[in-house]
Amino acid sequence: ALLLSAPAFAEGYPERQITMVVPFAAGGPTDTVARLVAEKMSGDLGQQIIVENVGGAGGSLGAGQVAKADPDGYTVLLHHIGMATAATLYRKLAYDTLNAFEYVGLVTEVPMVMVARKDFEPADFPAFIEYVKGNADKITMANAGIGAASHLCGMLFQSAIDTQLVTVPYKGTGPAMTDLLGGQVDIMCDQTTNTTQQIKGGTIKAYATTTPERLAIFPDLPTAEEAGLPGFEVSIWHGIYAPKGTPAEVTERLSKALQVALADEGVAKAMADLGTAPSPAEDATPAALKEKLETEIARWKPVIEAAGVYAD
Ligand code: MLT
Repeated sequence: ALLLSAPAFAEGYPERQITMVVPFAAGGPTDTVARLVAEKMSGDLGQQIIVENVGGAGGSLGAGQVAKADPDGYTVLLHHIGMATAATLYRKLAYDTLNAFEYVGLVTEVPMVMVARKDFEPADFPAFIEYVKGNADKITMANAGIGAASHLCGMLFQSAIDTQLVTVPYKGTGPAMTDLLGGQVDIMCDQTTNTTQQIKGGTIKAYATTTPERLAIFPDLPTAEEAGLPGFEVSIWHGIYAPKGTPAEVTERLSKALQVALADEGVAKAMADLGTAPSPAEDATPAALKEKLETEIARWKPVIEAAGVYAD
């Protein structure tokens, strides 16, 4: 068969709209980041990027769908640290993480906050820890499924306080937030891209941030470290991927559009208002994302194995 020569193939790219799969429900942190950058990338590419939410299995269902998509440049995946943790957490993933994708670039790294329903009793994080340890069988912790960032943070928290909690999985922390607001679930560790508005509005309670330093948007919110839980740190990096076999000219073109989006003042402001910031241009590249994924799989593998948390 006549092979499409990549340069000719990529010359007119993109000629039609592109699907960006978000492997979590609409209205959550990943969806927020995706819609923010997709809009500006569309402007540079001259073609619409349509976000498609595919929730389930902590993000690995959506990732698997993109792994099987045509490598024609018209299906991409925006996913986060869960791409790395799922490689260890899931014994039977539908794809081989390090061989199923091409890389476009890193997008942003988002802090997490431990939050609770607004009438949760403890006054501060030390009291929160004591209360949770003393009532483990009555407290419910929401997450977006095994492999989600909220799951990883919850796993680290439970290990740090040596206490097992009842967890409630959702298709994303967008729907989880609805139950937290309604008091149907007690606590959650989630990204500032999903919690900032609710914390500012007083509709949920924030106890600590999982970053080494306090957040500019919440100067009075202590870090977990200073509130008495050293080493409880995790931030959620996000990247854009394409199916294996997508031509380099295409992923390079997408990386350029991503860099344009991340350099946009409106994107930087919107991210700052949500407690995060765009990745620097040199990280919004295929090589930087490939390096990040490989090092993060190696970093989290022993941590997950020590926690003994797996999905079969
Ligand atoms: C998670 O990993 O917790 C997800 O980011 C939740 C989401 O984006 O809905």
